[in-house]
Amino acid sequence: MAREILVTSALPYANGPLHLGHLVEYVQTDVWVRFQRLRGHRCLYVCADDAHGTPIMLRARQEGIPPEALIERVGREHREDFAAFRIGFDQYHSTHSEENRELAELIYRRLKAGGHIVERVVRQAYDPEEGLFLPDRYIRGTCPRCGTPEQYGDSCEACGATYSATELKDPVSVLSGVRPVERESVHYFFRLRDFEPMLRRWVAEGGHLQPEVARKLQEWFDQGLQDWDISRDAPYFGFEIPDAPGKYFYVWLDAPIGYMASFKAWCRRTGADFDAFWRPDSQAELYHFIGKDIVYFHALFWPAMLEGAGFRKPTAIFAHGFLTVNGQKMSKSRGTFITARRYLEHLDPEALRYYLAAKLGPGVEDLDLNLEDFVQRVNSDLVGKVVNIAARCAGFITRGFEGRLAEGLEAPALQEAFVAEGEAIARLYEGRAYGQAMRAIMALADRANRYIDEARPWVLAREGGQEARLQAVCTQGLNLFRLLMIYLKPVLPRIAEEAEAFLADGPWTWEDLGRPLLGRAIRPYRPLMTRLDPARVQALVAASREDLAPRRADGGAPGRPGRGGGQGGLEREAPQGYASLQDLERLDLRVARILKAEPVEGADRLLRLVVELGRGDRRTVLAGIRGAYRPEELVGRLTVVAANLPPRKMRFGTSEAMVLAAGSGRGGLWLLTPDEHRPHAPEPGTPVR
Ligand code: MSP
Ligand code: ZN
Repeated sequence: MAREILVTSALPYANGPLHLGHLVEYVQTDVWVRFQRLRGHRCLYVCADDAHGTPIMLRARQEGIPPEALIERVGREHREDFAAFRIGFDQYHSTHSEENRELAELIYRRLKAGGHIVERVVRQAYDPEEGLFLPDRYIRGTCPRCGTPEQYGDSCEACGATYSATELKDPVSVLSGVRPVERESVHYFFRLRDFEPMLRRWVAEGGHLQPEVARKLQEWFDQGLQDWDISRDAPYFGFEIPDAPGKYFYVWLDAPIGYMASFKAWCRRTGADFDAFWRPDSQAELYHFIGKDIVYFHALFWPAMLEGAGFRKPTAIFAHGFLTVNGQKMSKSRGTFITARRYLEHLDPEALRYYLAAKLGPGVEDLDLNLEDFVQRVNSDLVGKVVNIAARCAGFITRGFEGRLAEGLEAPALQEAFVAEGEAIARLYEGRAYGQAMRAIMALADRANRYIDEARPWVLAREGGQEARLQAVCTQGLNLFRLLMIYLKPVLPRIAEEAEAFLADGPWTWEDLGRPLLGRAIRPYRPLMTRLDPARVQALVAASREDLAPRRADGGAPGRPGRGGGQGGLEREAPQGYASLQDLERLDLRVARILKAEPVEGADRLLRLVVELGRGDRRTVLAGIRGAYRPEELVGRLTVVAANLPPRKMRFGTSEAMVLAAGSGRGGLWLLTPDEHRPHAPEPGTPVR
């Protein structure tokens, strides 16, 4: 039975170019959508630019243009990039649209009528020079816990503490450089807790979320759901809240509503029925593809908003992991922060689509684009295996048989085996296990090549009297190629289209698997894909390094912690759950020799050590290792210390560095010691890398 399916990808921010990290998501979604259509379902795919919020407002200011002009320009660039990568949206819209304003107001009014919106006064940092309230990322100062300077207003990169911007010591606005003042303002809050029973049930029902995401939600429930601040004060680029002059919807309120708005625009264009998809009892399926960094918004706020406003909830939310390049977070200085545009200047978009598909699975694990492996994999799989089958067979048919295929299959059992794999491959696509699907398809490609190797058409062509068999073998080879291309069509739309033209067949659907191509003419073969040249990849990396712009005065504030996206801030931010190399390099870890060790009066867990860090740098360290070591056994030993932590004042004196030791805190403690089973022991001061 044909399904009715509506699919979305997260809406990219309209203040910067698309990069390869974004493409993970749009390729993942597009493959799924194309697969559903290939299977004969009605599958609509909508998206939009996410055009509101402070970063966009400030970016436009910086460029000296109105925000409308900025989002217009960026929107155009996004559309062009998406088209080049063949991301097949039915509608690409903007959150700064009439449809979205109407729907945002409607949803807000319904939530308010239901008693789910409350007002509260909040104290917030305000930049008196710029005349605006400062989001946390626009404030920097000294960490209230560990004293590291230059930290953002929400968390410390040195010690990991999270706090509110008002707790920072010596805070400054990154916009004006002045000290923010505290100001009060009325904000509107969405009472998420009103929906907790519904959300718990929705999560428990299963099928709506991946298991690892459902577990995360369980943690959030356990921590207690907080009211969500959905308003921002002017000046703000967004929609003004009805009956609340000077108050605007926070960008994340109207962003997901943008999914509905984009679909509404599509309905207006095509006359389709909006309500049939969005009313609570709708039989249509609704799926949101998102990155793992925005699960909170999609799995908690969004279903709650929909429920509160009388709309249906998503059928499922599919989260994916983050892209790394060569095993590391994308980096401008390494040339691995690659924009979609740059990529297109150098390489074939289908190559990236294939590689990402080969790497994608159903979970939220991060995936790596290793540039060497990329070249190797694309060349060996697509060029060497798949396209090669057509290249090996087509010439004989064109030259010897006026382009006509034989009337029958030479190896019907092999053909049947290829077709029989169809259901397994379909299940893998459906479950977003694309990597496994690609492996299954490549295993078939290997079988097709083995068939040709054994049938040896080039020998048949040389020996007279083998014409019928030559035509039959090549016909069989081309039919196997055709099956492979049908399987790959969701991933390789351009190549599949050209293969359809070459075989004068199609547009293919899944049904075409069961109908071999016989007794008809094909067109002369032209290469469907050429080998990737590693030099082109190097040129791409070099060009991406040139993109490196001087750091902006605001230090890249619009970036978000724990992600590779956004405008600046790329060097300092690692994907969620990772530390960046810079984080590691910031720590000055050195080999040290313990010169003195003595108990501390009144502290039964502390030893006072004097350590030598090389070049006469001596420090006093208070270390909680008395339970595990007697002072005298430590003197003269080498160990490892963190040398650039701020001095810590304690009741028993100041500790000027930290000794590294292993231990869980529940008994058992081992001082780290450089390996001495070598010809020479390392010197005090030797850096640890
Ligand atoms: N505007 C919000 C989404 C609003 S949806 C109602 C946003 N925009 S974004 O431009 O920062 O990111 C768009 C999507 O791309 C997100 O799903 C995000 O997770 C994804 N990615 C951004 N960088 C990425 C990688 N490096 N790797 C994989 N996906 C990444 O968030
Ligand atoms: Zn800190």
